[in-house]
Amino acid sequence: MALRTVGSVLVVFLWSVTVVLGQTGWSVTYTKKSFCTLNGSTVELSCSYTYPSVHTITTTFWFTKNDAAGPVSLSDDPDYKGRVTYRKDKENGHTLTITDLRESDSAEYKFRFKDQTGGWRYTGTPGVSVSVTGLQVKVTGRHQDKTLTCITTCTLTDNPTYIWYKNGHKVKEDTSSLYSDYFSDADSYSCAVKGREDLRTPAVYLQVKITTLLFSRWVTLNCGTCTLTDNPTYIWYRNGYKVKEDTSSLYSDYISDADSYSCAVKGHENLHSPAVCVRGQNCWSVTYPHQGVCALKGSSVDISSTYDSGYDTITSSLWFSPKHNASWSDKLIPEDLATDPGYAGRVEYAGEKESGRSTLRITDLREEDSAEYKFIFNTETSGWGYSFPGTTLTVTGLQVRIKDPTNIIEGKDLCLFCESICFLQDNLSYIWYKNRQRLIGHETKYLYLKPVSSEDTGRYSCAVANHEDLHSPEESLTVTYGQRNTSVSVSPSGEIVEGSSVTLTCSSYANPPVDKYTWYKKNVTSPKASGQSYSITNISSEDSGEYYCEAQNEVGAKISKLVPVNVLYKPKTTSISVSPSGEIVEGSSVTLTCISDANPPVDKYTWYKKNVTSPKASGQSYCITNIISEDRGEYYCEVENKYGRLNSSSVFVDVHSVFPWVPVVVVVVGAVLTAGALLVTIYCYMKRRSTGGSDATADTQSVHPDPNSETYTALNMKTRSSEYDTLVNVRGLPSDTAPQIDTELSDYEK
Ligand SMILES: *[C@@H]1O[C@H](CO)[C@@H](O)[C@H](O)[C@H]1NC(C)=O
Ligand SMILES: *[C@@H]1O[C@H](CO)[C@@H](O)[C@H](O)[C@H]1NC(C)=O
Ligand SMILES: *[C@@H]1O[C@H](CO)[C@@H](O)[C@H](O)[C@H]1NC(C)=O
Ligand SMILES: *[C@@H]1O[C@H](CO)[C@@H](O)[C@H](O)[C@H]1NC(C)=O
Ligand SMILES: *[C@@H]1O[C@H](CO)[C@@H](O)[C@H](O)[C@H]1NC(C)=O
Ligand SMILES: *[C@@H]1O[C@H](CO)[C@@H](O)[C@H](O)[C@H]1NC(C)=O
Ligand SMILES: *[C@@H]1O[C@H](CO)[C@@H](O)[C@H](O)[C@H]1NC(C)=O
Ligand SMILES: *[C@@H]1O[C@H](CO)[C@@H](O)[C@H](O)[C@H]1NC(C)=O
Repeated sequence: MALRTVGSVLVVFLWSVTVVLGQTGWSVTYTKKSFCTLNGSTVELSCSYTYPSVHTITTTFWFTKNDAAGPVSLSDDPDYKGRVTYRKDKENGHTLTITDLRESDSAEYKFRFKDQTGGWRYTGTPGVSVSVTGLQVKVTGRHQDKTLTCITTCTLTDNPTYIWYKNGHKVKEDTSSLYSDYFSDADSYSCAVKGREDLRTPAVYLQVKITTLLFSRWVTLNCGTCTLTDNPTYIWYRNGYKVKEDTSSLYSDYISDADSYSCAVKGHENLHSPAVCVRGQNCWSVTYPHQGVCALKGSSVDISSTYDSGYDTITSSLWFSPKHNASWSDKLIPEDLATDPGYAGRVEYAGEKESGRSTLRITDLREEDSAEYKFIFNTETSGWGYSFPGTTLTVTGLQVRIKDPTNIIEGKDLCLFCESICFLQDNLSYIWYKNRQRLIGHETKYLYLKPVSSEDTGRYSCAVANHEDLHSPEESLTVTYGQRNTSVSVSPSGEIVEGSSVTLTCSSYANPPVDKYTWYKKNVTSPKASGQSYSITNISSEDSGEYYCEAQNEVGAKISKLVPVNVLYKPKTTSISVSPSGEIVEGSSVTLTCISDANPPVDKYTWYKKNVTSPKASGQSYCITNIISEDRGEYYCEVENKYGRLNSSSVFVDVHSVFPWVPVVVVVVGAVLTAGALLVTIYCYMKRRSTGGSDATADTQSVHPDPNSETYTALNMKTRSSEYDTLVNVRGLPSDTAPQIDTELSDYEK
């Protein structure tokens, strides 16, 4: 059995019967003699043939039609162009494949072959019958009690499985071609055969048939919307009552003249279509000019509707809100809003009922009044349905909102806006307040602060024009900024004396406030301290210098100006320099200079000579002119500033006499002339030496005035005083040519 079933939709299956016709030895055997297959599918016909061995077969083909010259090979038939293939897959066998079958392909197909001379030819008759069928949905029964049949023009075999689709979705798969169910209007149905689902029937809308075949008042309505992507559910209203909810946009019904219809998409009921009269002009209707109304909390609102009851007389009408059904005595029967205690004194009906217009006015609106409001009327027999969407009221307060409220830094652009939860009106005029003061020149919903400055910090509220009393709550705006006016104050102010305590305080304005203070001293890289105040206790002269602080918050940091700290102290050290530094001979001059470290500098110098109680002099330098041997002695100075006094150690001033033999030589040379004068001179000289003191020749100054040497040995004073028993170090001052003798604390200093 070489037959290949195609798409498992093959129908009548007959076991092949070898047909031997005519001359002995010539025959065609068709593998399968009859096909019923689907429009669009593929069929394969195959056969084997025999012939007497004396012949050589050169031509084989399939055909259905003849022309003047005889049978036309399917491969040459324009109707089958591109859809036919021959295959000689085995000896004396032949297979024909026809693809993309059309109903016009239904025919008897025969195989024919010829020998090389063309004189001998044979056709296998009868041929293979091929029926091509489409699928169709047939509807039987009435109303909802219908049966659908998936029909074909020939009978499919192989127990085909039928698939049913409802609105494009597979709903049934069965070997029976029948489908019985509860069918709702406006659903579409289609069927297919398993394996060839692509060959499914066109969708059949059931009610279309019924409408055209059976019922004259049956009308199908289509809820037209723009294309909705997410398989919307449509809702139909008849006279205000919801009558259908379905994914199909079609609705069919028996129409009465007074009926009106409206449709909506579920979830967007407020955007329903207007109620339309299907026939005539005078059908029932309720129309709301607004689907939604936005109103300010505290204000009043008018919600209106127009209505028509056709030729029926209205017995009563009312407004209600489905939200408040809990307080109705029967939850299914709407009650007049005017009787609702929640609206007591706040509801009134306005408008002229005669002209078919009713207005519901609600005053002193509260947020809980946000609800849907519907108008219904009743006639003697029935009334307008209460499922029809009404007008949705949204009550909003105003609220000041700040765009990007986390990042309000001075200098940036900022926008505040007056927010309402619903859209109030296009051209509304707004009023802005800052700290309850009206801001002039800002009349839109948006308040721009470009750029925002720290002065904009404040409490803001907004209102709409003519409802100033219904302004929003206040919203605080805080503008952050970095450090400003960063400065240092010193406490106590005034003089800072060594040993006392001083506190430096850093002040800086910033918002948010400074969260970090750091203290620095000029020319010192590492911070000295942190914290807003920096206290230096027991201050010392080393603490003198210039200080500054750095203040920092998340917005930025800034440093203060330098603040000098000048630590005052009484004289700390004092010393005496002697000039000239060499040997001091009688008659020459010597200057003693008192050098001291004090802050403020010493303003009073007093010179003393040891064993002499009264001061010798005052002033920083003490100059002894025309020195005589009586001036020899230990000198010291007392320095004084306003914080104290200090005595230096003493320096010994030696005075050398002129050499005694020099005048003798002079006397010898002039002896002849002035013997008398010489004698007087010698006498006087000797007399003075005897009262002057010690031996001048023993004094040797061994000063090495090497300016590059830091230290050198100075006056050898071991013969002068026990206090100078050791060498005294003298330091050269680079700024001063005069050598200076450092004093050490001595008895004199007290
Ligand atoms: C057969 O298929 C073609 C294309 O697929 C379609 O146009 C035609 O209507 C079908 N015929 C029937 C009877 O279904
Ligand atoms: C009453 O109102 C609530 C809320 O609006 C609603 O969920 C409920 O279905 C209503 N009940 C009736 C009986 O209409
Ligand atoms: C706003 O515009 C409407 C119509 O565009 C107009 O009737 C109304 O007076 C305007 N209101 C104000 C406050 O300008
Ligand atoms: C900061 O300094 C400016 C001028 O330098 C002055 O006008 C302002 O008042 C100061 N601010 C404060 C808070 O001291
Ligand atoms: C501080 O540094 C500057 C420059 O580096 C220098 O001129 C100045 O003398 C220094 N001051 C002190 C007190 O060291
Ligand atoms: C103050 O400092 C000086 C020198 O640093 C020290 O000798 C003295 O004891 C200190 N006084 C106090 C009260 O700490
Ligand atoms: C100063 O007086 C003391 C005792 O009063 C004495 O020992 C010392 O030698 C005197 N010094 C001089 C230089 O006269
Ligand atoms: C310094 O010496 C003079 C004279 O001896 C004395 O009156 C004074 O009190 C001394 N000063 C100090 C600080 O010891």
